[in-house]
Amino acid sequence: MDALLDMPPGSGDFPVLRDIAGDRPPRRLSRVDKLETQIAALKERMNIAVIHGGDKEEPGAVMYRIPNTRPWKSYQAVAEQIADSLRALGFRSVHLLAENMHLSEEMQARQIHFAWLNSGGVQGFNPVAHAPSMLELLGVPYVGHNPLISSILDNKPVFKLEVTKLGLNTAAFTTWHPTQGRFDPASHPGFQRAFRGHAGPFVVKPVSGRASLHVHVIDEAVDLADCLQEVFDATQNHVMIEDFLPGREFCIAIAGSVTAQSRSLSLGSAPFIFSPVERVLGDEERIFTSMDVRPISTDRMRLLSLDTDGEVISRLEKIAMTVFSELGLETLIRLDLRMCDNGEIHILEANPKPDLKRPEGNKTSIVSVGLERCGMDYDDLILSLIADRIDLLFSQRRGAPDHLHTLIQP
Ligand SMILES: Nc1ncnc2c1ncn2[C@@H]1O[C@H](COP(=O)(O)OP(=O)(O)O)[C@@H](O)[C@H]1O
Ligand SMILES: [Mg+2]
Repeated sequence: MDALLDMPPGSGDFPVLRDIAGDRPPRRLSRVDKLETQIAALKERMNIAVIHGGDKEEPGAVMYRIPNTRPWKSYQAVAEQIADSLRALGFRSVHLLAENMHLSEEMQARQIHFAWLNSGGVQGFNPVAHAPSMLELLGVPYVGHNPLISSILDNKPVFKLEVTKLGLNTAAFTTWHPTQGRFDPASHPGFQRAFRGHAGPFVVKPVSGRASLHVHVIDEAVDLADCLQEVFDATQNHVMIEDFLPGREFCIAIAGSVTAQSRSLSLGSAPFIFSPVERVLGDEERIFTSMDVRPISTDRMRLLSLDTDGEVISRLEKIAMTVFSELGLETLIRLDLRMCDNGEIHILEANPKPDLKRPEGNKTSIVSVGLERCGMDYDDLILSLIADRIDLLFSQRRGAPDHLHTLIQP
């Protein structure tokens, strides 16, 4: 780094550069140049932790083991790929850490300045919010959603209420918990409100789930009770009943406005929308099979084409933009959506930590599948997400990261 900033960090978007040569006139530095300079310094000096989900079964992970209300996964393999990518991008000090009760000690021992959250939590309620809560407490900035947003996005009925307030479509729903007694469609007030006169089919799923686990299609209301109890037994949390949407299924991801193409940053004027994809269901497949059962391969995903799907693409983009901007989101989410009989697109759910697997052969992640079309590769994606967060931290002073300001001083 050879550029010296004349203005104190965060005091304006266009600081004047003191020319190193001394006698040439100062020049204006754009926000992108400034960000490149800041990132160059941070690559040398910032200790980053990439955090994956810890295993509660490992000795010393938790004080007391309690149920997982969200089906657990370590996400370690993808955390390793993110860490490798950060190293390949030039970040010199990248540490892989498990989320567990020793996380803060481990971070202190390594003098971590910044974290990347790739964890769905360890156990308990709203587990996706636990790591960001700890990082807020420690004052460590991170790539990831804040605890409240993480919880809202990961809780399907809560997110659907937000979606409804925004005037967007989402399938009719209600929730059930055993404290309400055995489910009876005729007397369940929420079911009557949402589904009066509706014969089915229905979808039963956990309020906080992933990868289609414990998602069932139930054709008749009379069969809901057993299924609800089964999903409750697996998750120990409220269970959702939703109208079954029979149409095409789509995913669209959206992130902050800083992006990288061939490692070169640009600052867009709006959030960055990734290429939307259609999930291709098999003939007998009513719901998309879990990636834990069948890997997401490129033949199960179709990039939507502007030529044939232009109208659908623009509807999906509008939905993604509305959710991102109106909920005040600050980093990547992926929306899963489905069409109903009349062609309306309904939001099924938001994924606050979409899979970021590095594409390999024909196995990929939904977010990565359209990267090439945006002129990006996997390392550009990782650089985009970290650069966007660093931009947010420095330009809006989110989280008052004085320690990061110190790191970028010459
Ligand atoms: N209301 C619904 N109508 C039709 N299919 C659904 C519905 N809800 C879920 N599905 C199917 O189940 C899959 C998983 O549901 P989703 O809500 O995305 O939860 P998660 O991905 O967290 O398990 C979806 O990709 C879709 O194929
Ligand atoms: Mg989903």
